[in-house]
Amino acid sequence: MRTYTFVLVFVVMVFILNLANYEVDGTQSISKEEDLELDRQLNLLNKPPIKTIHSSWGDIYDCIDFYKQPAFDHPLLINHKVQMKPNSELKGGRDETSIFRTHVEKCPQGTVPIRRTRKEDLIRAKYLALSTEPMSASPHEKFAGILYKNEGETLFGASAKISIWKPTVDLDQYSLAEISLRSGWDSQYNRIHVGWTVNPLLYNNDTAVRNFVYWTSDNGNQTGCFNTLCPGFVQVNPEITPDLPLRITSIYEGIVYELKYHVYLSPSEKKWWFVIEDTTIGYWPTEILPRFGDTGVERIYWGGHSMDNEMGSFPEMGSGHLPDEKFNHAASFSQIQYDNASGNLLDVSDNKLTDIIGCKKIYGMDSYGYLEDQDRRHTIQYGGPGGVC
Ligand SMILES: *[C@@H]1O[C@H](CO)[C@@H](O)[C@H](O)[C@H]1NC(C)=O
Ligand SMILES: *[C@@H]1O[C@H](CO)[C@@H](O)[C@H](O)[C@H]1NC(C)=O
Ligand SMILES: *[C@@H]1O[C@H](CO)[C@@H](O)[C@H](O)[C@H]1NC(C)=O
Repeated sequence: MRTYTFVLVFVVMVFILNLANYEVDGTQSISKEEDLELDRQLNLLNKPPIKTIHSSWGDIYDCIDFYKQPAFDHPLLINHKVQMKPNSELKGGRDETSIFRTHVEKCPQGTVPIRRTRKEDLIRAKYLALSTEPMSASPHEKFAGILYKNEGETLFGASAKISIWKPTVDLDQYSLAEISLRSGWDSQYNRIHVGWTVNPLLYNNDTAVRNFVYWTSDNGNQTGCFNTLCPGFVQVNPEITPDLPLRITSIYEGIVYELKYHVYLSPSEKKWWFVIEDTTIGYWPTEILPRFGDTGVERIYWGGHSMDNEMGSFPEMGSGHLPDEKFNHAASFSQIQYDNASGNLLDVSDNKLTDIIGCKKIYGMDSYGYLEDQDRRHTIQYGGPGGVC
């Protein structure tokens, strides 16, 4: 019998801080046509704000009329039935304001905050498509986690409590903790990824830990993006956006902080909702993810995911420490669950899981199966110090 270190786990969502450094990156060279195209996209994405909020960490948020937000510029969403909250709110009823102590003000009623997009964001976003093939990943991306395949079951969502850490990441690497859902084939892969990341390439050299979402309907070739860098993700929360920094991260041999991330399909509403703890952030309309369809997704991945730099060196993943059964040493995913067709969250079963460890030299993954502790349930530890594989 394994013994598990008892760790007090506080669920605290405290978004914020970390002053980012904003310099216009003039080093990219793009053609005149590309430049005009970027201006066109920027005009579409940055709508006239009702109000502008300058966050304490440097990002600018524009409060946009809910119905005019960039998501609805997606050509497939012209007749989309808009919705401002899920029909059935999740049970729980935690007071949002006690969980999210954000320094972003609330947007006025009827408007939602959208992080203002700059040209540099779009230039870099183009090269930041996430690949998601843990089984045959590009040599520049490594994974350490578990895969679950449906095999006759309908998977209508995925959830887990993910511990929050701050891995050390160079300006040209990224490190994420993600839940990713996938359906389709090859160039037709539809995907949604959610979780936290340190991704200076995405966030203007900012090495803060931030939440993120990502989607694509063609395996990252042409469609999709992170957060609201392209039309698609519909923001419904007047305060909490998918890209906010997290102020509090876990401490080695100290307190572990965890957040529960959940993505699920509401078939009657035709929306894939994104929820952190009990707070609904927004949704992806099913129109833009045709392969997810009414039959749900085919595969779910829970775990770490990183990209190397030009020297072939990978960043820290998770806490930067290898799994050792101590939850204040290595990073973890607990309560690993999926939604079935009736909307019940079910624990994954061991015999349908595949372990993924992209490079044993620099990362580890240990799947502990179902732990009796109700706070843990199905649990893995993953991550490591990184380096050259
Ligand atoms: C990516 O999209 C372009 C333009 O639609 C297409 O020509 C190309 O074949 C696609 N590549 C892959 C790998 O799907
Ligand atoms: C990020 O840092 C690199 C290296 O210091 C620098 O060349 C680049 O201009 C910076 N980019 C931004 C957006 O600040
Ligand atoms: C979903 O799970 C619940 C609880 O185990 C079960 O009662 C229900 O029948 C399941 N729904 C489907 C469609 O399998």
